[in-house]
Amino acid sequence: VKVVATAREVRAELAAFKRPQGLVPTMGALHAGHVALLRAARTDCELVTASIFVNPAQFGPGEDLATYPGDREHDLDVMEREGVDLVFAPATSEIYPEHFDTTVSVGRLSRRLEGESRPGHFQGVATAVCKLLAIFRPDRAYFGEKDAQQLLVVGRMNADLGLGAEIVAVPTVREPDGLALSSRNAGLTGEERVAALGLHAGLARAVKLRREGEGDAEVLREAMRAEMGERGVRVDYVSVADPKTLDELSELTDISGPALALVAGFVGKTRLIDNMAL
Ligand code: PAF
Repeated sequence: VKVVATAREVRAELAAFKRPQGLVPTMGALHAGHVALLRAARTDCELVTASIFVNPAQFGPGEDLATYPGDREHDLDVMEREGVDLVFAPATSEIYPEHFDTTVSVGRLSRRLEGESRPGHFQGVATAVCKLLAIFRPDRAYFGEKDAQQLLVVGRMNADLGLGAEIVAVPTVREPDGLALSSRNAGLTGEERVAALGLHAGLARAVKLRREGEGDAEVLREAMRAEMGERGVRVDYVSVADPKTLDELSELTDISGPALALVAGFVGKTRLIDNMAL
């Protein structure tokens, strides 16, 4: 796998490859969820590109930027094994050079849920992803469904700014017991790992209630809150929302009507999120 550190080198390298190009943006600390993104890109595209950049702009002041996990050698091994053609691993100053003064902010979609709990987070994500899309000009870009709101925000930005990539959603990869894979799972102690299952258990409970015909979204939210709390998750939010707008739903009248359950919570110091279609 060829590894480059500047946008200029990315552009020079791209000319040598065939298209379509599939880009997989990452912050490193690769796990099986990232592998699913890389494989989807490898299956669909002639050229697979990826980035490794822990984007400081998407971390708030009290968040885990300093302790965000990462092992460059491991990440490059995974990318090599998965047949990535070109990896962009820029320094922070390559993405945010001196005098950098532009931000991309998506409106409504960015403000709820993660946006409310993590002010500025999606502006950081949108700015970095916009820059990556501008550097790579990929035909497709791959994102995990685990970050459901990020997927919507990136899709909105891509459409609104006419960036021309197809944004591809790849299903969440889970541990056998249901825990959604996340780089942040690495920070859990044994006991916290057990409690972390509360997010999945809460979502599973909402899915079950919905299947049994429960149509009151507040009942579903309460059930998720209770299940997570009982298992030792400090709930940040629970949501039953429209999967396209993320507007909170009150009544789910049509059993086949689309709805998305989203949850966030702390286990110890680690903040985790997950979601499931209802
Ligand atoms: O999902 C992530 O890892 C990051 O938010 C992304 C999309 C690479 C942007 O920094």
